[in-house]
Amino acid sequence: MKILVIGNGGREHALAWKLKQSPRVTKLYCAPGNPGTAALATNVPIKAEECEKLAQFAVENQIQLTVVGPEIPLTLGIVDEFKKRGLRCWGPSKAAATLEDSKVAMKEFLRRHNIPTAAFKIFNKVQDAHTYITEVDGPLVVKCDGLAAGKGVTVAKNAEEAHDAVERIMVNHEFGAAAGRQVVIEEVLKGEEISVFAFCDGHNAVLLDYVQDHKQVFDGDEGPNTGGMGAFSPVPGLMKPRDEDEMVRRILVPTMSGLVHEGRPYVGILYMGLMITDSGPKVIEYNVRFGDPECQTLMLRLKSDLVDVMEACIDGTLDRSSLEWHPGVSICVTMASRGYPGKYPIDVPIHGLDQVKDATIFHAGTKEKNGDVVTAGGRVLSVCALGDTLDEARSRVYRACDSVQFEGKHFRRDIGKRREARKSRR
Ligand code: AMP
Ligand code: GLY
Repeated sequence: MKILVIGNGGREHALAWKLKQSPRVTKLYCAPGNPGTAALATNVPIKAEECEKLAQFAVENQIQLTVVGPEIPLTLGIVDEFKKRGLRCWGPSKAAATLEDSKVAMKEFLRRHNIPTAAFKIFNKVQDAHTYITEVDGPLVVKCDGLAAGKGVTVAKNAEEAHDAVERIMVNHEFGAAAGRQVVIEEVLKGEEISVFAFCDGHNAVLLDYVQDHKQVFDGDEGPNTGGMGAFSPVPGLMKPRDEDEMVRRILVPTMSGLVHEGRPYVGILYMGLMITDSGPKVIEYNVRFGDPECQTLMLRLKSDLVDVMEACIDGTLDRSSLEWHPGVSICVTMASRGYPGKYPIDVPIHGLDQVKDATIFHAGTKEKNGDVVTAGGRVLSVCALGDTLDEARSRVYRACDSVQFEGKHFRRDIGKRREARKSRR
């Protein structure tokens, strides 16, 4: 079977790595891929946003399954584009992918279907947003409406920070004019976050094991938010049986049935970013793709054949599927460039990749330059390890992080510590 993976990050490298393990795969392509995927697939120089070109490539090369990693081609309608040509493409339709496209649309969906989420208001006039912030005069979350690569959200400690976020989004158009036309202002939820993923076939869903991301750039959850500095799975003790029951009953089921009811059944992976609060789980956001680095963390533990599961999503046969997991612990640590999530240098040579033994390295922001692998982004590498225990996984992963070298490398040293802390509280 010939498979095409679309995207060029650590997530897509991990998907390609996992797909390649299926005995059903005869040929793997990655578009555009990165130096990591080049080692196990044929990289194709077409960008993830070039949906028509990608569909054309799939026709010409008789691709039997296309797997879409990032959200942008999904929100552009790549799945519909492939379907028109009779091609099988794993992911949600353009209509279903709107869930991630617009925070306003997401919050309105949650309200329509009575799904637990932070109380919110939507503003399209700068002055009205400022007036509301002055009235509340306390902590608030300000979110830009459109896609902003995870940077359009400010958890404001006070009114001043919230006013400032509105100015940056709606007046300075820091995330583009269209994305900044409206803002969502919502209450701050208290609790612990968890990433919940479900494979979906339109009507049925299969939950994956839980995984926890670390969004802030520095140890101890300090500093600004990033795309994700590391993750671990499973996540024992956070989602109590009562929370899990509520999550399925009040979040997963109404999300799936709400989308069916609206004529846009959801196929692919549904990512629910939840806050486990004292009054149960609440939706912070939906994403229509795998999380990064959550995907890398999960792929390391998944034992089931990913091709079978993805086909079941497309064929509507997930009710006959279940997932098998490695019983141990997996950890992923993001190695980032100096300055990330702010400005950072690129073209910095990376050394020591081939000395890593009992860890798996997925390339994220890397490229090849004159035969060397150099940095090309803020998040450079996803260093992952599996262990029978948390300590084993942590020592493997950090040994690998220490042996890989590039000028200005930085990573969090405390990925997985939160799990220990929770255990000792119990
Ligand atoms: P989002 O892009 O909506 O997932 O927001 C990015 C991050 O901001 C989340 O992962 C949370 O850490 C934080 N966040 C967003 N909304 C809230 C909220 N209502 N309360 C507390 N934290 C939030
Ligand atoms: N790690 C969070 C995300 O992929 O959005």
